[in-house]
Order: sequence, then C-alpha cells, then structure tokens
Amino acid sequence: MTAKSQTILITGATSGIGRDAALYLASRGHRVIATGRSERALSELREAGLTALRMDVTDAASIARAVRDVDALTDGDGLDVLINNAGYGLFGPLEVLSDEDVRAQFETNVFGLLAVTRAFLPRMRERGAGKILNVSSVGGRMTFPLGGAYNATKYAVESMSDALRVEVAQFGVSVVLIEPGYIKTNFTGTTVSLAKRYADERSPYANALALMDSAESGLERFAASPRAVSKAMERAIRARRPRARYVAPWINAFGPWFGYLLPTRLLDWVFARAAGLRPAPAPRALPAGA
Ligand SMILES: NC(=O)c1ccc[n+]([C@@H]2O[C@H](COP(=O)([O-])OP(=O)(O)OC[C@H]3O[C@@H](n4cnc5c(N)ncnc54)[C@H](OP(=O)(O)O)[C@@H]3O)[C@@H](O)[C@H]2O)c1
Repeated sequence: MTAKSQTILITGATSGIGRDAALYLASRGHRVIATGRSERALSELREAGLTALRMDVTDAASIARAVRDVDALTDGDGLDVLINNAGYGLFGPLEVLSDEDVRAQFETNVFGLLAVTRAFLPRMRERGAGKILNVSSVGGRMTFPLGGAYNATKYAVESMSDALRVEVAQFGVSVVLIEPGYIKTNFTGTTVSLAKRYADERSPYANALALMDSAESGLERFAASPRAVSKAMERAIRARRPRARYVAPWINAFGPWFGYLLPTRLLDWVFARAAGLRPAPAPRALPAGA
C-alpha cells in the first residue's frame, strides 16, 4: 500500500458503480473492502485481489458482522473511507406502486445507508478522521415523473448528508455527496424488471408503463461509464477538504440548474411527454359570471 493508501469499504460493490469503484480504487493503491449480497460476485472480487465481505444493508446482523470483520482487519482502527453506494430504483406512477415496494425502496436507499453509516462512524469519530461518501444522484436534486419513490429516497440522502456533514465535521469526519448522472450499469435493468410487476394494459398509466419497458435500449446511448463516478470518488478521497457535492460526469450538473431556471409548467410539459404521460390539459374557460 502507498503512503496515501486508505482503507475503503464500499457497499453494493457487486455490480455497476460500486464494482467499478472497488476495482479502480484498489488499482490506485487503496485497500478496498468490497461488500455486497451476491456470493458469486464477491468471489470474483476476491479473485481480483480485493477483500470482499457479505453485507446486506437492510440486515442489521450482517452489518454488525461486517463491523467486527473490519475491526479485525484494521486492528480496531476502522475505516478511512466509507462509500455508501448500495441502492436501486423503483420507478412507476405513485398511485399504483405498492406500499410494500415503496417501503422496501426506502429500506435500502435510505435506512440501509443510515444504518451502515451509524455502524462505521464511531471509529472515525474516535480517531478524529474519516470520510463518508454517500452515492445520491442528480435525481436527488430534481424529480422526474414516475420517479417519485426513487427520487424521494435520494432527496432524503441529500438532506441527511447535508445535516451529517455539519454534525460530524467537529470530529474531523467529512461527508460528501456523489451525484451520478445516467450511468451504464444494471440500474435500468433492475428498474425495468421491477416495473414489469405493474404492467397492465388496462391501467390509466398503461402508456407510461409500456414506455418504461423500452427505457433500457432507448436510454443506453446517453449513459456514461461508471469510471466517471469512480474518478469523482477518488477526487473526493484525495482532497484535504472535499467539496460537499461531486456531480459525475460534471456535465450533469446543468440538469438541476435547468430545473431551477425553466418555468415549472414548461418543465412539467417536457417531462410528461418524455414519460409517455399526457401533459396537463389547458385550463377550461370559466363560465361567464362565475
Ligand atoms: N446507474 C445510474 O444511472 C445511477 C444514477 C444515479 C445514481 N445511481 C446510484 O448509484 C448506486 C449504484 O447503482 P448502479 O447504477 O451501480 O446499479 P447496479 O449495477 O444495479 O448496482 C447496485 C448495487 O447495489 C446493490 N444492492 C442493492 N440492494 C442492496 C442491499 N440491500 N444490500 C447490499 N447491496 C445492495 C446491488 O447488489 P445486488 O446485485 O445483490 O442486487 C448492486 O451491487 C445506487 O445507489 C443508485 O441509486 C445510479
């Protein structure tokens, strides 16, 4: 390990952004502890020379076990960097998504992230040093139709990170938001397969649901490589005083600005068309004398 080598734990490192970050950061000389649920994917990471642990962020016992394993691996020092990356996207009209699915979405993206943070933060606080990188999304600062559930979880991650950043700065711990744009991973595949549960030709949202089905092939050409996100993480890890937010790739930083600058009605119209929803009808003229 190099002098600047850090001990970094990544959640959801068995696929996509987390996997790329694990391999990239290890190749940059860091000691990476890749965590996830898929034993097969974890074995592949071990074969690539990484330490890999099983951890489901919604399972308190598996988080506690990972903390004990990390203590053993680091002689009780704990982590230099925690990357909260595990997450997925539940997309669909808010009227039809089941309570169970919406709660499960929050369990992973929000409560899971909070539980892992609380588990690894004490050692950082005791040592007076550490960094927590929370993978949010550009969708944590702007909302898309059909993304109400997913975007709400990322808004929650943004809000919790903004609070935590100030709460733990006094202990020498930094909290950083990583905000990916659209990245080529298994994310869309998972989203589309979850949305299939709601496919129904008779649904008042049938058009939008059918359009989601073709999202993967339609959106692929706009997707950036996960490496752009891994490099943003590395910049945050290297910085003595990291920024509060890193958008990756940087061009996506313009997205939320369009949202702030454009009139809401215009933005709603564009989003409705893009999502296969009928834009709001023009307001009906009031009867004379009303
Ligand atoms: N791809 C994008 O366009 C994009 C854009 C903005 C933000 N993001 C965010 O980036 C993060 C990574 O997503 P990705 O794009 O890399 O998608 P991905 O390829 O589907 O990877 C998601 C990872 O999270 C893991 N995961 C899900 N639930 C978990 C749980 N309960 N415990 C532990 N691991 C769990 C998955 O493991 P399994 O394989 O076991 O399910 C997988 O390793 C997510 O937080 C996502 O919201 C992605």
